[in-house]
Amino acid sequence: MSEHKKHFETEAIRTQSENTQFSEHSVPLYLTSGFVFEDSEEMRASFAEEKQRDLYSRYGNPNVTEFVDKVCKMEGAEAGFAFASGMAAVFSTFATLLDAGDHVVSCSSVFGATHGLFTKYFPKWHIECSYFNVNEVDAVESLIRPNTKFIYAETPTNPGVDVLDLEFLSAICKKHNLLLVIDNCFATPYLQQPIKFGADLVIHSATKLMDGQGRVLGGVTVGNAALIREIYLFSRLTGPSMSPFNAWVLSKSLETLAIRVERHCENALKLATFLEAHPKVKWVKYPFLKSHPKYDIAKKQMKMGGSIVAFEVEGGIEGGKSFFDSIKMCSLSANLGDTRTIVTHPASTTHAKVEASVKAAAGITDGMVRCSLGLEHIDDIIADIAQALG
Ligand SMILES: Cc1ncc(COP(=O)(O)O)c(C=O)c1O
Repeated sequence: MSEHKKHFETEAIRTQSENTQFSEHSVPLYLTSGFVFEDSEEMRASFAEEKQRDLYSRYGNPNVTEFVDKVCKMEGAEAGFAFASGMAAVFSTFATLLDAGDHVVSCSSVFGATHGLFTKYFPKWHIECSYFNVNEVDAVESLIRPNTKFIYAETPTNPGVDVLDLEFLSAICKKHNLLLVIDNCFATPYLQQPIKFGADLVIHSATKLMDGQGRVLGGVTVGNAALIREIYLFSRLTGPSMSPFNAWVLSKSLETLAIRVERHCENALKLATFLEAHPKVKWVKYPFLKSHPKYDIAKKQMKMGGSIVAFEVEGGIEGGKSFFDSIKMCSLSANLGDTRTIVTHPASTTHAKVEASVKAAAGITDGMVRCSLGLEHIDDIIADIAQALG
């Protein structure tokens, strides 16, 4: 009889570190920077990697390993490494994969700090980046050069919630012998597993829905074991590793990821549907609304539409200002993926330093609102947004 394959929710809960002598039910926190050895031979063999065990928490720690193991099961990945933040994951992955003289093709709709790496720091290391517009993916192939290393994208994108076809990007990468690196932060592995569609590496800001309660920073890169090995070697030297405490918090959070994300998505679809019919709203974008330009692709690669809704209020900058100043319950914050509903003004916060042309290409308009749906009752969320719209 073939072995029963456990479901996503079960793997998230039942992937655990080994019990200690106390037979605890919930995994304890291993708040230790180092580990001890029986004798000099064990120490030598461990450092020579002849023996697999924890050595020092910059390299690995039981809580961090548990967190990474859970994410690997959820993403269908061979291996992974966890970082202090999402940006540490993005940067360490890039720094490992790229050499001076290399070139990257990236979607222009990427997180503001990632965009900052491409524009401010890549040039000083002689690494070039060419952008493609999220709605002009036919141009992607023409941007590839002999020195291109990988294609990079987020889907859904931040903050425009545009959707990119992962199978399409993967086919281009295979044809040109490139890696496909995907930031899967907005979808979470519960909704979308890019490796299934051909991605080589998947990055997360665990700070968002993986924690889901706005407490800790974290990041993780998972995927092909040989690439992760390189990322591990870079990271154990440079020290961007996740702390055991944050890994312990995040591991517990992953146990409830599926159930939380389902409710986030239900709330998001209800708000998007409400906004679509509202006279003061110019447009609404949500992957599982039929009006989304990439609705069919979203349906193909995502289980539900995600927790983020983007919309534009009437009246440009002034309309946007008056909307934000009238909000009573929802939080005005730049974070996302929290139990609390958050409204953000990307043009003046997360994407304030992005050039106007790139902002326009990413669909970031002056009156655009990014709403990260929380877990409050949907009627209360809609009531607050409705009164702020006037
Ligand atoms: C899509 C995406 N990637 C990466 C990051 C960076 O993550 P962190 O803030 O954990 O460094 C963010 C943060 O908002 C994000 O939205």
